[in-house]
Amino acid sequence: MAVTQPVDSERAEEAGVEAFMSGLRTKERSVGVWGSGAIGSSAAYYFAQAGFRCAAYDISAERVREIQRGHFQSTAADAISEVRAKDTLEVHATTRWQDLVSENIAVHLVCVPTERAAEPSAAALQDVMPRIGRVIKKTPGGLVPPVVSIESTILPSWIQEVVVPALSAEGLTVGEDVLVGAAPRRDWFNGADYTIETLPRIVGGCDDRATRLLMAFYSTVCNIVHPAMDAEHAAFTKVIENVIRYEGITFGNRLALAFPDFDMRHVLRLASTKWNIPYYYPSLGVGGHCIPLAPQYLVEEGGQDNEFLSSVRDSIDFNEGYLDRLYRRRLGRLLKGKRSVGVLGLAYTPDAKMHKLSPAFAVLDELRDTPRLRLHDPFYSGDEIYDLCSVPRMEFPEDLHDCDAVILVTAHSHYLHPGFEEHLSAGTVVVDNTGAWQGRLFPSGVEYYEVGRIPGRLPGLKEPSSATAD
Ligand SMILES: NC(=O)c1ccc[n+]([C@@H]2O[C@H](COP(=O)([O-])OP(=O)(O)OC[C@H]3O[C@@H](n4cnc5c(N)ncnc54)[C@H](O)[C@@H]3O)[C@@H](O)[C@H]2O)c1
Repeated sequence: MAVTQPVDSERAEEAGVEAFMSGLRTKERSVGVWGSGAIGSSAAYYFAQAGFRCAAYDISAERVREIQRGHFQSTAADAISEVRAKDTLEVHATTRWQDLVSENIAVHLVCVPTERAAEPSAAALQDVMPRIGRVIKKTPGGLVPPVVSIESTILPSWIQEVVVPALSAEGLTVGEDVLVGAAPRRDWFNGADYTIETLPRIVGGCDDRATRLLMAFYSTVCNIVHPAMDAEHAAFTKVIENVIRYEGITFGNRLALAFPDFDMRHVLRLASTKWNIPYYYPSLGVGGHCIPLAPQYLVEEGGQDNEFLSSVRDSIDFNEGYLDRLYRRRLGRLLKGKRSVGVLGLAYTPDAKMHKLSPAFAVLDELRDTPRLRLHDPFYSGDEIYDLCSVPRMEFPEDLHDCDAVILVTAHSHYLHPGFEEHLSAGTVVVDNTGAWQGRLFPSGVEYYEVGRIPGRLPGLKEPSSATAD
């Protein structure tokens, strides 16, 4: 008997996974999404595409209306698929969380924001968890309990300090009435290269059963799913991978300031030809939803006075005043006396309408006293730009001719079409954040500067490619 027991329990596990997935496939049970912004609505989009019934809850009526119109924030949801999505995808979007009671939800995806004012915040998680608990209590029991999967970026300790206590407070026992896991997101939202489908997904549950169920569930949309040993390790992976990036980018920026006589972009490019060194180039700063916040999650998890995290705290301090320092050491000399400056790009990432913690804000703040300061971003209207940045919109490329300095913050495809150069006048300084305009033939008298290089001097010969992705 002792020999057959593991086999029996394995079979029971498999049967449980099969019953769970069958409930979803037949649409008897559904996928619930809590917080339907970029992360939540794209999850709903992909799971609905995979043939599941989804219910998407959000406190924002506007967001819910957008989803009802078939507008998902997904890299796969181009204009055509959005129209198709409206007709065919089974996503019931609502501002009333109580509506989710009747949906017979098997998997609750938690996709609410987890930061406030650029600091980690569990407020939205604390708000939705009791509601999820109440929905689960009213959901008919089955062979397999519902699973709560945290897709939001979290401190690993929030699993035991926020998620589990909230469910327990509703009278649910984790591991019996409900399973808990984490499946953090890595999406990039600026092209088809890094999507829910193509990015390897890390999933971890409160026990092996939860991990197996999450693996089966996420495998329906993700090509590769890696199991973590538990939910905390899955959640921490997201934080750590972003801290590694944050520290790499920060180090590149530090080096560029420390060695002004060196083209640090060039050195780092050459160094990155080594198989195990990624290319982190100097830039106008760290931006985005995830990377700038990652060290804050890390030091909160490890303790503000954790002696081993002092270098990370130092990097946070460095980044707080970074643009100002870069301006005083490098950009100020180039931009001195410029009276009409055009900033190109508000988004922190190319070809997406995403401006969270974009370095464009620090650039605008630094140049606030410029008599004529304008911004263009193809994804934002004049009103949106004014509301977010308090500067008027400029036209691209038409208004380049009356700028005496242009700062290319975001390498949107819109800025890469040939021909814009002829709108620039002699005497204009061009500051390029990412090197997107490197190699362009600017009219004579235009001074081109790529952040991290030596003003007036570019490498004569073509630089090699990096061994890993940039
Ligand atoms: N956007 C990214 O590139 C990205 C990538 C990886 C991880 N993340 C993480 O995913 C999470 C969500 O980010 P996002 O980009 O989707 O944010 P978002 O702002 O686009 O969407 C969050 C949505 O949640 C809703 N919401 C807020 N409080 C709520 C509440 N109490 N109840 C229900 N809905 C609520 C908001 O109305 C909004 O629609 C965050 O933890 C973020 O760090 C984001």
